[in-house]
Amino acid sequence: MALKLLLSTVALSAAVLSRPTARDAAASDCDDVHIFLARGTWEDYPGRQISVVYAICNGTGTASCGYEDIQYPASFLAPPYCDSEGLGVTHGTDQLTSYAKKCPKAQLVVSGYSQGAQVVGNILGGQQGGSTGCTDQNTTGLVPDASPVSKIKAVTLFGDVTHVANQTYNTGNGTADNGLDPRTGTQLERLNEFSDLLQSWCLDDDPVCALGDDDSAHTSYFDLFSQDAGDWVLAKLTL
Ligand SMILES: *[C@@H]1O[C@H](CO)[C@@H](O)[C@H](O)[C@H]1NC(C)=O
Ligand SMILES: *[C@@H]1O[C@H](CO)[C@@H](O)[C@H](O)[C@H]1NC(C)=O
Ligand SMILES: *[C@@H]1O[C@H](CO)[C@@H](O)[C@H](O)[C@H]1NC(C)=O
Ligand SMILES: *[C@@H]1O[C@H](CO)[C@@H](O)[C@H](O)[C@H]1NC(C)=O
Repeated sequence: MALKLLLSTVALSAAVLSRPTARDAAASDCDDVHIFLARGTWEDYPGRQISVVYAICNGTGTASCGYEDIQYPASFLAPPYCDSEGLGVTHGTDQLTSYAKKCPKAQLVVSGYSQGAQVVGNILGGQQGGSTGCTDQNTTGLVPDASPVSKIKAVTLFGDVTHVANQTYNTGNGTADNGLDPRTGTQLERLNEFSDLLQSWCLDDDPVCALGDDDSAHTSYFDLFSQDAGDWVLAKLTL
């Protein structure tokens, strides 16, 4: 919470400095760059991905930059994984849609780790026609070229449960491996309509995205790749 307050304070003063004209209260709550985080199973908010937020927001210059957590349990058993994941899809879709409506000039970034990567993939590509391992929702995903997708500039995934081998947006030495519940069929086709916005990090040893045998690989992404991910996102933004 302190981190969040710190970031929004920094974001707000940057916004005031760069645009000193009178604005209404709602517009003054808008970041120029706004990042949505879907945390991994069992992480507290905001989770390890906060280091990617720092890497991004450290590079936006006079553009204000902040983040919000996609609200969902990120649980494994209580509630069960697919209920948790489904809540992430529902809430994340609502949060993105309402932020884009409230702040139409904001450039949006979406990031998901582990279960949260599945959430983000399902927000974009939907859960209908194929498999991502959860069948209790059959959503169709977001519509390309319409808001909020038209506001999304970059999407980063780390250790994705639904990782699919050999996609153009894969990166890391697990690129050629499938995860626990690789996305198939329409779900993969729909997600791949967003290929240009996506980058998905996976390590060969990660049991979650690559069926590897080293749990520590799954938690190593943010020590290894936060700066790379931040640089990749910054290059996708108009600053
Ligand atoms: C922020 O960016 C500056 C300049 O690029 C760099 O020297 C510094 O290490 C960065 N800080 C963090 C926390 O990434
Ligand atoms: C979603 O689709 C799958 C596959 O067709 C089906 O098995 C499942 O029952 C559907 N779920 C819901 C909630 O309709
Ligand atoms: C994959 O990359 C990670 C991180 O750099 C490294 O620790 C690991 O040894 C690599 N695995 C293989 C099979 O090269
Ligand atoms: C991904 O591509 C590599 C290289 O072509 C291939 O060896 C590997 O089997 C592919 N992975 C899957 C799961 O198809």
